[in-house]
Amino acid sequence: MDHIVRAMRAIAEPTRMRILCVLGRGELTVSELTRILGQSQPRVSRHVGLLVDAGCIERLPEGTWVFLRLVSDNAISDLVGAAIAAVPSDDRTIGRDAERLELVSAERATNAARYFRESAADWDQIRSLYLAEDAVEQALLAAIGEGPFERMLDIGTGSGRILEILSGRIAQGLGIDLSHEMLNLARSKLQGKSNCKVQQADLFSLPVAATSQDLVTLHLVLHHLANPEAALIEASRVLRPGGTLALVDFAPHQYEFLRDKHAHRRLGFTNQEIDGWLQSAGLIVSNCQALAPADRPEGQPSLTVKVWTAKHKGEAA
Ligand SMILES: C[S@@+](CC[C@H](N)C(=O)[O-])C[C@H]1O[C@@H](n2cnc3c(N)ncnc32)[C@H](O)[C@@H]1O
Repeated sequence: MDHIVRAMRAIAEPTRMRILCVLGRGELTVSELTRILGQSQPRVSRHVGLLVDAGCIERLPEGTWVFLRLVSDNAISDLVGAAIAAVPSDDRTIGRDAERLELVSAERATNAARYFRESAADWDQIRSLYLAEDAVEQALLAAIGEGPFERMLDIGTGSGRILEILSGRIAQGLGIDLSHEMLNLARSKLQGKSNCKVQQADLFSLPVAATSQDLVTLHLVLHHLANPEAALIEASRVLRPGGTLALVDFAPHQYEFLRDKHAHRRLGFTNQEIDGWLQSAGLIVSNCQALAPADRPEGQPSLTVKVWTAKHKGEAA
């Protein structure tokens, strides 16, 4: 009971209540929070420290940055959620904080867009080689099914696109990626989708419990990895019995420039390779679809994208 009393004491203060309300709309750094609250950084940090110690919020270090977010999935998160919900929707202080949050988010989106623009040429060059992204996404959605899924993990989430397209079918989604820039892009894209979060983590050591995820996705990630098998073993560890792993990657190809210019380590994968790795991960393919670009002029490079879904052995339909 002591921890509940401590959390209630921490919540019961106006600035801390404002912090909880604003973090209820998305994660923020202390400096972003300071700008929104219009108070000095030491003061904000002190309130943040108290909320962290009381288990109401958590710190997520990401390189030299630290993000703050509400805790989830425990009695204290229920308490915090109830306190936020109890604030009248026309509260003026909270309304002003929400307006300043909009400004901070818009600025972040501009910075993220600049990063994306600078690397956009690279992305476009790769995209032009395969089927329209939209078609790949539709195939992925069809392969996964309507759900709904309780928990989803998108491994190597990049700009968060896969979380974005699945956000309507999931109760909670987490995207992990090593790249701070990509995560910033994802945060901008997912602003307003309160059921989706992102976090910096290495896919070889996922920050979620064993058998906790109903859906795990790896969209165009595997070909960057030195050890795809280890990645699939780790993905399988977190998949719950009956859950689905969805894998999207390239069929074997010969485009060395993807290695030289775009950090691809593997030039696509055969079905045998994928089957073998999934087997060692305790999984079995339940469906596989190949998407080749149609009407490509002869001699023009093209990439076939494959969508595999897998389940734990004995569970494939
Ligand atoms: C080509 S992008 C794909 C992004 C996203 N899945 C999509 O399709 O839009 C590959 C992503 O994998 C991430 N990545 C590579 N190695 C990783 C690792 N060891 N742990 C986590 N993410 C990693 C990269 O930072 C990059 O964002």
